This record gives sequence, C-alpha cells and structure tokens, in this order.
Amino acid sequence: MGKCIGVLTAGGDSPGLNAAIRAIGKSALNAYNMQVIGFRDGFRGLMENRTVHLEGEILSGILTLGGTILGTSRDKPHKMPVGSKVQDMTEVMIDNYHRHNLEALICIGGGGTQKNAYRLFQAGVNVLTLPKTIDNDVAMTDVTFGFDTALSIATDAIDRLHSTAHSHHRIIVVEIMGHNTGWLGLGAGLASGADVILIPEIPYDVGQVAEAIRRRRHRGKNFSIVAVSEGALSREDARELAELKDKRQAARDEKKQKKVSAALAAFQANHASNTLRLSSQLESLTGLESRVTILGHLQRGGTPTAADRILATRLGTACAAAVVEQRFGRMVAVKGESTELVDLAEVVGKRKLVPLDHPWIKAALQTGACLGNNVLVG
Ligand code: F6P
Repeated sequence: MGKCIGVLTAGGDSPGLNAAIRAIGKSALNAYNMQVIGFRDGFRGLMENRTVHLEGEILSGILTLGGTILGTSRDKPHKMPVGSKVQDMTEVMIDNYHRHNLEALICIGGGGTQKNAYRLFQAGVNVLTLPKTIDNDVAMTDVTFGFDTALSIATDAIDRLHSTAHSHHRIIVVEIMGHNTGWLGLGAGLASGADVILIPEIPYDVGQVAEAIRRRRHRGKNFSIVAVSEGALSREDARELAELKDKRQAARDEKKQKKVSAALAAFQANHASNTLRLSSQLESLTGLESRVTILGHLQRGGTPTAADRILATRLGTACAAAVVEQRFGRMVAVKGESTELVDLAEVVGKRKLVPLDHPWIKAALQTGACLGNNVLVG
C-alpha cells in the first residue's frame, strides 16, 4: 500500500475548501498512489483522532459544495479547551499523527491556521498548508481561495441595495467582513460603485464622509451607498487603538498587562457596533435617513465561484506534489499563474494589508468614491 497523508480544515469556513480537499484526495490517489485521511473539525479532530477516509464516493460531487465536508473549528493545538481547562494538546496530536503512520499533514486555513500548523512543524510534524480565507489577508500569497466567492456575494448584495437606497432617497451603510483588512470591502465597494468605501487601512473622518454625501445631494443624488469593512476605524478610534497597543507592548508586570488587555477587550466590544454608530452619525450630519445592512456570514456560504474552484484545485494538486517531493514546513502560495512553496516562517505573524498605493484604491478615487480620509489618500 502507498503512503498516507492527513488533511484538516481549520478556522472560519470558506468557499472552495471542498474543491481543495477533492484535489488533494484525487491527485494523491490517481497520480501518486497515496491514501488520504481527513481529520474532522480542524485541530480538535486531530486531537480526538476523529477521522474519515477520503476516497471514492466521498470525494465525488463536492467540487461545487460550500463549507467543508470535514467540518472546522477555531481550536488551537497549544490552547485547547478540554473539559473545564485550556490545555496544550500538541503531544496528543503528534501521537495521533504517528498512529496513522502519516507521511504528512496538510492544514488548510487562514493566518491563524498557518501559525498553528507552523507550531506542529516545529514540533516535528511534516506539515504543508494551503491559504484559504474570504479576507485575503494571508501573507506571501497573491490571493487566498474563498475571497473571490465572498467578493461576488458582497458585490451582488450591494447591487441590490442600490435600487432600494435610490427609491427611498436613503443612505445605506453596508458592513462587509474582512477582519482587520479591507480587501473584501474595497473590492466589493469598487465592483458595485459604492459612493463611500471605508477600510481598516484608512482610518476615516466621519465629517469627510458626511461632506461627500452632502455633495452628492447637491448634484441631485439623494441616496448614497456606504461600504464599510467590519474592521474600519474612525481616526479617533484608530488613535485610541494604537495607544492601547503601545501600552500593551510597554506593560511589564502582570497587573498592568491585565489592565491593558481588559481595556483592549472593551474597545473591541464597543467596536462591534461601529457600523450602527456610523449610520446614525451620518443621519444626523446629513439629514438623510440611513439604514444598515450587515452581510455577515452570508459572505462565507454557498457555491464557490469558478475562479475559487480552479484556484483551490490548483493549490490542492500542487500540495500533493509537494508531499511527494517532501518539501515540508511550507505553504503552497499563489504567484501569478503559478504556485510556489513559501517557508511557513515567512508567513506566520504577518498580515497582508491593502497597500495605500494599491491600484484598487487609485481606481476607487478616480471614479469618485470617498475613502474617508483626504490626508492619507486623495
Ligand atoms: O476570517 C474569516 C471571517 O469571516 C472574518 O471575515 C470575520 O471577521 C470572522 O471570520 C468571523 O468569525 P466567526 O465565523 O468565528 O464569527
């Protein structure tokens, strides 16, 4: 019998995960005569040794399915809730990896998963990873799979909001996912012609946003679409967050660390309602009625686009080849039309932000969108 490899999907689900699982499974079996087992629910399934053989029927008909047939979780190997305690379960995972006599473990996920996979690699596991997330924020890869589908869903949603905003002469503030990066918000805002696009990389001045909406009204446009990333911050909030992060860096003793952590948690809790706050600020600053739409997890669901299916299939097949070549401790990254293996050490602890000179930013400004901060851009 051929060698055996393990696969798991971790972190938030993303369209294209099943396409990647299928590609790994089919290419491992067909091209390299390797067996594949899947671990259920991310690192938790590896810890609890819950497996499924990925062969035949189970790999059939899943290319078009959203979500992940393996299930996922946000559990971390070194900080896993077990009973009433949070424990480091790395050794248990390594035992299970050896129990199946695995040649390699493929971890499919976003930034957090890359970090957790790297820890397992450092602990002796032959790890390879694939980059997936709707946020498109994984470092060292041009793009992640899941992003294109989420971008299409968010764009379609904003297209639909346009006609109702127009009919009621309203502002519609639409919140888009993306965690602390603006790829999804900027992309969907640009593709749908949003009038205002606010992303975390560009802290916004609410006065400038209101002014842009007022100017539109003077030109006879009594409605506006404001596309706001969930991680977007006003200038004041960005300043406060930066100060808190500095304090956390400087905190020496445990008491101070706890105090700053509590202040950061309070800041995050308050930020959860930022979009609602922005909507009512704009209502009072412009005199126009405003409504909020939070797209939320809709952006992660359903059928992956053709582009995501192709991308996940390319990455999955390249990953099976990397197992054969024994190129472990690496992420299979996208580089133009090709793929390349990048050391996980180069990936972890980084986040790919939207650069301020990105062509999407320039295009949004030149087509008249307000990005909320004339000082930083345009
Ligand atoms: O990372 C993907 C993502 O959808 C982010 O855009 C969002 O901030 C987060 O996950 C939501 O996480 P959860 O599904 O755990 O609520």
